[in-house]
Amino acid sequence: MTTNRTFTMIKPDAVEKGHIGAILEKINSAGFKIVAMKFTQLSKGDAEKFYEIHNERPFFADLVQFMTRGPIVAAILEKENAVEDFRALIGATNPAEAAEGTIRKMFATSISENAVHGSDSDENAAIEGAFHFSGREVY
Ligand code: CMP
Repeated sequence: MTTNRTFTMIKPDAVEKGHIGAILEKINSAGFKIVAMKFTQLSKGDAEKFYEIHNERPFFADLVQFMTRGPIVAAILEKENAVEDFRALIGATNPAEAAEGTIRKMFATSISENAVHGSDSDENAAIEGAFHFSGREVY
């Protein structure tokens, strides 16, 4: 079942560089409706839990360090075919491989500091959204 929702984070690298506004503009222009949003900072425990699926990977410690070093913007986005369309909008995980005009091509610097997160499935979008937002914070 498709929920027409995805979850995103504007990561600490993009926040530090002042790209929140430009990234939200790209998201809105692409037809996504923001149904939940907050400016927050992940604790070490939050990041370890959120990225649990990657905890055996060699980059896990660096990923946790990076994602906790400053604030992020977390949001739930709504659009028909949201997960797939948002992944197309942000581009490949590695910005060097991301298509021209994608958010990562424009704002990311490396595979680890890649500006934005986008859920990879409807199931994970629901899990990740619920990680950051209670029901009453979603509109
Ligand atoms: P994202 O897809 O949002 O969630 C997992 C993150 O792990 C990914 O973004 C990158 O920030 C990071 N990541 C994935 N692969 C690598 C890698 N090979 N080296 C470093 N970081 C990675």
